[in-house]
Amino acid sequence: MLRLDKVSAGYGRAQVLHDLSLEVTAGEIICLLGRNGAGKSTTMRAIMGHLPLMSGKIWLDDTELSALPPHNVPRAGVGYVPQGRRLFAELSVAQNLEIGLRARGNGPEVREDVLTLFPRLRERLGQKAQTLSGGEQQMLAMARALCLRPDVLLLDEPTEGLQPSMIAAIREVITGLRDTGVAVLLVEQRIDAVLDIANRVAFIENGKGGPIMSAEALRADRSAVERYVGV
Ligand SMILES: Nc1ncnc2c1ncn2[C@@H]1O[C@H](COP(=O)(O)OP(=O)(O)O)[C@@H](O)[C@H]1O
Ligand SMILES: [Mg+2]
Repeated sequence: MLRLDKVSAGYGRAQVLHDLSLEVTAGEIICLLGRNGAGKSTTMRAIMGHLPLMSGKIWLDDTELSALPPHNVPRAGVGYVPQGRRLFAELSVAQNLEIGLRARGNGPEVREDVLTLFPRLRERLGQKAQTLSGGEQQMLAMARALCLRPDVLLLDEPTEGLQPSMIAAIREVITGLRDTGVAVLLVEQRIDAVLDIANRVAFIENGKGGPIMSAEALRADRSAVERYVGV
């Protein structure tokens, strides 16, 4: 289980997150929902150790992630697909995957599993990342994170700007991972993209945690969506 315990963090002295607490359990998809600038991407960067914490702690089971140097966070089992993907554009598909595999010492069988999830990548192993379509790049970003065989997966707006068929393929992978016991923290802007795959929704506003609700409860009463996201 991933646990944020009263995390405060920001950029320089500009504090963005204020005492944010959140738990993501193995085998669940929890969606972090909030307006633009609410601190969703900052939350993910804080988990990855890309931002120093001002206070609070972040745990993965018994490991204190917030005490690790940033490069050891993926090694501890946290996969991260940043907003806007961030691939190594000049490197091939295969080389991008290799970086994911090496981070945790995983071998060819993990690579095989990942390529089975993303057959389009298997057909493009030698191609440079920058020449892939947007949807394929997103698949590669996810595939690289999955090469860690992560216990926790952080996905920052993974379907932003993609065609419906790609969105469907990515959602299917996400729910499949959840079903194998991965803890998924998902950021999406649109509630409708989320409600039918998320188990729970955690709201965030101005860097502070709001209510955490089951998707079921939200379907019955959307007033929190209006309050924290607007329409
Ligand atoms: N690199 C940065 N340096 C300074 N401020 C930043 C940086 N990135 C984001 N911020 C600020 O942090 C706040 C939260 O941003 P972000 O976490 O990206 O929001 P969200 O992902 O919810 O849209 C915003 O006010 C944003 O301007
Ligand atoms: Mg963001």
